[in-house]
Amino acid sequence: MKVIAVSNYKGGCAKTTTAVNLAYDLAAEEGKRVLLIDADPQGNASYVLWRYNPNASTLYKLYGGKALTSLIRRSKYRNLDIVPSMSGLEQVNKESGTLDPNELRRQLNNIADRYDYVVIDCQPTMQFLTISALYAADLVIVPFKAAGFNINGLELMQDYLEDAALKREYAEDLNYACLLTMFNGRAKSLNRVIDLIEQDTYTIFDTMISFSTICESAEDKKVRKPLLKHRRKSRVTADYLELTKEVLSEIGE
Ligand SMILES: Nc1ncnc2c1ncn2[C@@H]1O[C@H](COP(=O)(O)OP(=O)(O)OP(=O)(O)O)[C@@H](O)[C@H]1O
Ligand SMILES: [Mg+2]
Repeated sequence: MKVIAVSNYKGGCAKTTTAVNLAYDLAAEEGKRVLLIDADPQGNASYVLWRYNPNASTLYKLYGGKALTSLIRRSKYRNLDIVPSMSGLEQVNKESGTLDPNELRRQLNNIADRYDYVVIDCQPTMQFLTISALYAADLVIVPFKAAGFNINGLELMQDYLEDAALKREYAEDLNYACLLTMFNGRAKSLNRVIDLIEQDTYTIFDTMISFSTICESAEDKKVRKPLLKHRRKSRVTADYLELTKEVLSEIGE
């Protein structure tokens, strides 16, 4: 079992879109057994997978002593399970003083024979839930846009990742790579990306995710589908399939 966290301090950089589509593509196209953990009290990943429910058992219960297995729900899709989230999950961050951020990975190790991949969708703040995901991860995907503030923010994210790698107890090597998302191909964006690659400060996935309005229509209330189910032949769908292959070649069997 490999654990992949999708995290960035920055909001709105396609963390959820990436987590949902990577999880789905691993399950549906690659035949892997996948658990998606929604670790964001916004519950966007749960919503897209039709598992947002104000009464859902979330990770909150894990810290109240429940076993992780009791929080897992089936999704509509083969090979894809989910630990849902809703707004009450935020309470974990508020009560985190006495909680152990190693607990999530410790519990995941207990179910390592049930899943090939665990994908964790993180919230855009560096609080307890996100730190727990970084402590649990074998690979952290850091989505970012080719815009100035987004690129500046990567340095802060790197500090958090290095700190997590030193302090965590139950996971081994912590790899991370940045994923360029919402790429519009315009000269200004392209130059920023070329600069970033040339500076060689961060590991960046070869795959780049194109900008497409299809991402937004896929999460529409009446649609709510992974891209492969929504628009199988579109460019951005192909980008996520390529990312899935790249992830497998980085940390797969
Ligand atoms: N490749 C893309 N092209 C165009 N729009 C996109 C793309 N990826 C995501 N979006 C849209 O951008 C918005 C933010 O995406 P998403 O919710 O995945 O970001 P996030 O990082 O999870 O946000 P948050 O920080 O709030 O959790 C959504 O409306 C989504 O549909
Ligand atoms: Mg999100």
